Amino acid sequence: MSVVIVVGAQWGDEGKGKVVDLFTERAEAVVRYGGGANAGHTLVINGQKLVTRLVPSGVLHPGKRCVLGDGMVIDPHSLLDEVAQLQARGLLSNGELLVGQDAHVILPYHRLLDGLREDFHAAKGKAIGTTRRGIGPAYEAKAARRGVRVRDLVRPERLREMVAANLDELSPVIAHLGGTQPSAAEVAKWIDDALAAGDKLRPYVGDASRVVADYIALRKHVLFEGAQGSLLDIDHGTYPYVTSSSTIAAGACQSAGVGPTKIDAVVGITKAYATRVGGGPFPTELHDATGEALRKVGQEFGAVTGRPRRCGWLDMAALRMGVRLSGMDGLALTKLDVLCDLPEVKVCVGYKLDGVELDEPPLDPEDIDRAEPVFARYDGWGPIPRDARDLSDLPVGARHYVEAIERLAGVPFYLVSVGPDRDETIALRDPFA
Ligand code: GDP
Ligand code: IMO
Ligand code: MG
Repeated sequence: MSVVIVVGAQWGDEGKGKVVDLFTERAEAVVRYGGGANAGHTLVINGQKLVTRLVPSGVLHPGKRCVLGDGMVIDPHSLLDEVAQLQARGLLSNGELLVGQDAHVILPYHRLLDGLREDFHAAKGKAIGTTRRGIGPAYEAKAARRGVRVRDLVRPERLREMVAANLDELSPVIAHLGGTQPSAAEVAKWIDDALAAGDKLRPYVGDASRVVADYIALRKHVLFEGAQGSLLDIDHGTYPYVTSSSTIAAGACQSAGVGPTKIDAVVGITKAYATRVGGGPFPTELHDATGEALRKVGQEFGAVTGRPRRCGWLDMAALRMGVRLSGMDGLALTKLDVLCDLPEVKVCVGYKLDGVELDEPPLDPEDIDRAEPVFARYDGWGPIPRDARDLSDLPVGARHYVEAIERLAGVPFYLVSVGPDRDETIALRDPFA
């Protein structure tokens, strides 16, 4: 095994950052695929916290190549801020960073449109609840073949022409959404700032797909880091309440320009319960004191926007769908410790719709609203020792829960996480083995 994909199995924030940091120990290159600064991946080492947004979560391991795939949408200013913060900690100083030259660029008008659209639709109760980072508008421009790429940031004439043409087309949309048209001076500053950022990024930009292919050809271990989660996938998630990229494992191949035959293992990350930020269906959501308790104990507040995350029971029907969509070989189960104080824990094992039993959630927006989750229940188990390093260190109830989830998922666990810190982990299988 040498090429492993880590993918979120729910609606994001499953703990991908922690798992990628752990797996990077065995990898030589870590490649972030999909999305942009809508992601926030948290790493905790000896109590010290770091949140990555664009840079792969392998960054704390010196000497490992950190690649931003061509399928990402990159805000150059966010990236430069993140790089500066990491370099101030003595990281990313030795040519570790590589930014795909064909990745698309988020410019201020993408953020403007994202915010205007959210406000416009919020008035009708139809906002997506995006992170307002310009993700959707940047992917729209890419699909419309009007997008600006990282390689364009060092071509002043080309960039000016592209931005002018884009704003020409977008001007009526901005007006329709009730926005203020940017002034000529503002646009000129956007372009100057983008060119300055492009100049600073120049040493890091290159042919990411080729470099990753070379690592794979040399049989070096390569780790792909997903952002968001399977249920936020543009094609297979709870559309339209999704992000604008391909978040499932196939997205890694597409983003990095790597063929699917090169992938050896896919590891899905799931919490021991479920959360979601933003709008959209969430059939197992808890609107009661138990939901509050999960949010409080699990510290469920967005790493990017600080928004409270919606909390609910684990949805095994949705998780099985995630396993299927990404061909997951196994799972990493995180945040088991958060459930410790509950008298009972429930898990959705399927759905009923119009008297018919379903083993995966219906994805039509009206059907998913009407479908009734079917729950299994488990007795609570009390505190989990933070120094648990083996399944036998867990209370009996917790062990039964882990075994039940594994059985219902139909794939084995690579690890069980019992706390945010790197060390608070029960390692079960090595994905590179
Ligand atoms: P990501 O976007 O998938 O990387 O996840 P986030 O970083 O947005 O959210 C996961 C949060 O849970 C972070 O604050 C992590 O530090 C934390 N976390 C990860 N694993 C565990 C765990 O096993 N137990 C607890 N209590 N927290 C965890
Ligand atoms: P990580 O990688 C959780 C959600 C937003 C919104 C929807 C669309 O940290 O798991 P967007 O800004 O992408 O257009 O928003 O997707 N979303 C996430 N939710 N974790 C994330 O990333 C997310 N990235 C986007 O809240 O509902
Ligand atoms: Mg996150």
